[in-house]
Amino acid sequence: MKLNIALLAGDGIGPEVIDQAVKVSNAVAQKFNHEIVWTSALTGAAAIDAVGEPYPDATHDICMAADAVLFGAIGHPRYDNDPKATVRPEQGLLKMRKKLGLFANVRPTFTFPSLIDNSPLKRERIEGTDLIILRELTGGIYFGERGRKDDGNTAFDTCTYTRVEVQRLAKLGFEMAMARGKRLCCVDKANVLETSRLWRETVQDMEKDFPEVTVSYEFVDAVAMRLVQWPNSYDVLITENLFGDILTDEASVISGSMGLMPSASIGVHTSLFEPIHGSYPQAAGKDIANPLATVLSAAMMFEDAFGLKEEAELIRAVVNKSLAEGIVTEDLSGKNKAYKTSEVGDWLAKNIK
Ligand code: IPM
Ligand code: MN
Repeated sequence: MKLNIALLAGDGIGPEVIDQAVKVSNAVAQKFNHEIVWTSALTGAAAIDAVGEPYPDATHDICMAADAVLFGAIGHPRYDNDPKATVRPEQGLLKMRKKLGLFANVRPTFTFPSLIDNSPLKRERIEGTDLIILRELTGGIYFGERGRKDDGNTAFDTCTYTRVEVQRLAKLGFEMAMARGKRLCCVDKANVLETSRLWRETVQDMEKDFPEVTVSYEFVDAVAMRLVQWPNSYDVLITENLFGDILTDEASVISGSMGLMPSASIGVHTSLFEPIHGSYPQAAGKDIANPLATVLSAAMMFEDAFGLKEEAELIRAVVNKSLAEGIVTEDLSGKNKAYKTSEVGDWLAKNIK
């Protein structure tokens, strides 16, 4: 099979972790006789430096023409400390999500048997955790009207949702639940927010179309609590953009390191696969960042974008093997030897072959 993949390394540790995912993907392609055509494109601070824009048209064209996008990370401290900056790397990511129509962000949280004791939570609370947070990605407060009033002394951001936006996300959530544990949790703040009441009402209306799915409705503050108490009690959670942003970061560390969890963004045009973690600027260029979240994002890409399940399973098996054998970066090595980002990638590629 010929796989056309757009490669957007981005900022910070993005290029380093992407390199490892490319090594692993190429090894898989070689083993299963696929041909991968990688097309690199600029995004984030790197794109601002080069062409003054964080998601240039040329990059969008490459993404549109590709079968999948593999993405590293976006963000640079230069902009974080300058609230007045008008062009920001993150705008590139938001523009890309919007222009590619990526309305659903699939963020799984699962545990690795060999890492159970690396988790900040106790073993008995996390064993068996296997949940998916389905985050709405192109609406809500991220894309609402915002601005300043009163000579700049008052600021506002607005959260807007339409029934159609909720329906298309919830439909995916119901379908995912059907394919898994048949439990769906709608996360909202319906005791306060009108948009949340629209979410709840819309999902309630859809329950009759999926009679086998057990649906619960929980407030986001309660979910934030239950996620660290009994994460293994959840199956599929659906939620709006900002709640999903916060809850998925919280959930991602349950596995033992924030460098482990992959994600997929799907919707109208080309799907995008990226690690949940950010650009980790303190580690950039040091060859120390954990590449596994990006490698596992490549596994999701093989399975979800190309239907290549066996290939994806092989990547996951080799990742599990590396963890079991202690071929890990410093975030996981404890008192044992820490391997470099590139060494982990080399080891994974070698073991795939
Ligand atoms: C994420 C990130 C982005 C978001 C930022 C970089 C704009 O935190 O993908 O979760 O808030 O969506
Ligand atoms: Mn985030």
